[in-house]
Amino acid sequence: MVGRQVINDRFNFISTAKNQPKNKKNLRGVFVTGTDTGIGKTTIACGLAWILRKKGINVGIMKPFATGDKLHSRKFKSKDTAMLAEAANICDADNLLNPSFFPIAASPLMASDILKASIRKDEVLNSFDTLQTKYDFTIVEGIGGIMVPITRNQMLGHFAKMMGLPLIIVSQSRVGSINHILLTIKAAKDFGLELYGIIFNKMSKNASLVEKKTPEYVHRLTNIPIISIIPHVAENRYKAVGSCLYKSIYVNNLCTNH
Ligand SMILES: Nc1ncnc2c1ncn2[C@@H]1O[C@H](COP(=O)(O)OP(=O)(O)O)[C@@H](O)[C@H]1O
Ligand SMILES: [Mg+2]
Repeated sequence: MVGRQVINDRFNFISTAKNQPKNKKNLRGVFVTGTDTGIGKTTIACGLAWILRKKGINVGIMKPFATGDKLHSRKFKSKDTAMLAEAANICDADNLLNPSFFPIAASPLMASDILKASIRKDEVLNSFDTLQTKYDFTIVEGIGGIMVPITRNQMLGHFAKMMGLPLIIVSQSRVGSINHILLTIKAAKDFGLELYGIIFNKMSKNASLVEKKTPEYVHRLTNIPIISIIPHVAENRYKAVGSCLYKSIYVNNLCTNH
């Protein structure tokens, strides 16, 4: 009985009409951030790109800033860019999709300091403008979380703001997640960012009561739409994730507005 109650609660707060996002006719994309690195931003952004492309939307992707200890391939320096380009089925040049890459797994600020290199801020914003002209909807994956330092006085949130896209926050659903999500939302508001919604990722089949209840509590505390709760999936991850996302009214709204 308790288990069933939890599941019903989950679906009630996800699908109630009063919580549907405003009709965003001209939404030109979303900025996917997360409460941490490794939380599932790339997988979610890929799933979203894949399902929107399947629904006939001319969808582009961008990974403005990436860092990593090794180069992914000759074509793409970052694995995230490679995965995003594959999911969206596009073949733009790596430099356009990912204008800033440093071969040290650190924040762009620290990596650029260590390498004595400069951050290609203008290229990032020019590339974004080019992608916005070319595509009807652009999915931008951040790096780490919204407070990741890019330059001495600019954080990732400043770039999300300059791009003018609403945020999707990706989180897991576990003890500690409420704190991480509330901190991310507080920071997003400080940057003046709009929030499109929250996606809970990697919900285990054997999730505890606390893990199952976390999305409901986040919704109660924030009133921000919960776009979807994605299960832990074993294979074909971004396609499985995309199929889950498509069941969400918030993702469907993105399709009907284009
Ligand atoms: N729903 C999921 N089920 C199972 N594994 C997942 C899921 N989402 C992401 N992962 C895995 O978690 C790891 C980190 O995900 P990733 O999307 O790269 O995170 P981030 O972009 O936030 O660093 C990857 O190995 C990815 O395949
Ligand atoms: Mg990533």
